[in-house]
Amino acid sequence: MNRHQQIYEGKAKVLSATDDPDVLLAYFKDDATAFNAQKRGTIAGKGEINCQIAAHLFKSIESHGIATHYIDCPAVNEMRVKSVQIIPLEVVVRNIAAGSLCQQTGIPLGTILPAPLVEFFYKDDALGDPLLTRDRLLLMELATVDQIDTLRSKAIEINLILQNFFKLCGITLVDFKIEFGVDKHQQILLADEISPDSCRLWLIGEPDPNLRVLDKDRFRRDLGNIEDAYQQVLSRVLGVKE
Ligand code: TMP
Ligand code: ASP
Repeated sequence: MNRHQQIYEGKAKVLSATDDPDVLLAYFKDDATAFNAQKRGTIAGKGEINCQIAAHLFKSIESHGIATHYIDCPAVNEMRVKSVQIIPLEVVVRNIAAGSLCQQTGIPLGTILPAPLVEFFYKDDALGDPLLTRDRLLLMELATVDQIDTLRSKAIEINLILQNFFKLCGITLVDFKIEFGVDKHQQILLADEISPDSCRLWLIGEPDPNLRVLDKDRFRRDLGNIEDAYQQVLSRVLGVKE
């Protein structure tokens, strides 16, 4: 880690200042948590793997014209990012029913959704990151009408880019969570990370519902072989010729 002041420690990353006030350094940790940190553990090598996967995906998304906070990686588990004010929303996009969508609606696991579903969760650990309606979002002044539309359309574009990318990796993008931030020019940038911690990724052609899982559900549901799954995602991501 660098000699600069640590400004924030999250569950999976530490953010530090740099010599440039517009640039932060994100250090990716091996720590893993689930269920609002009620379950804690370590996934060996995760920091390095997630940093490399996120860097690759941010570059790919940038190449499709969507601005991200990514700058570069000075070390395998460190990423320089543009400083932003994080919008306290977890924007989830779903292509296939899984997780809380199944739990809260009864839609069976694995149901292919007729169109991508975009959901907004309030990023607040004390409240348990609740699902928000559009009206609650406006009521809480978490985003303006224009910002909601912008976040939704960016999320749908990012979904298309990632879906196509992961297909080339032999992986189905079931769902994912992203976060956005606002930079000093008031521009909205894709921020945080995109990795097996924040996506559901299923191996194409693997019918076994447990064996196909290549993401943090292996940790959440104690499925084992977590490191192998994360490593496999990285190898496949690096192997793609776009
Ligand atoms: P969910 O089905 O539990 O709502 O999760 C939807 C997606 O969001 C899934 O890909 C996992 C990801 N996610 C996070 O990245 N962080 C979280 O805190 C939660 C609850 C989900
Ligand atoms: N990241 C969240 C937490 O720890 C939950 C999850 O990913 O399941 O608490």
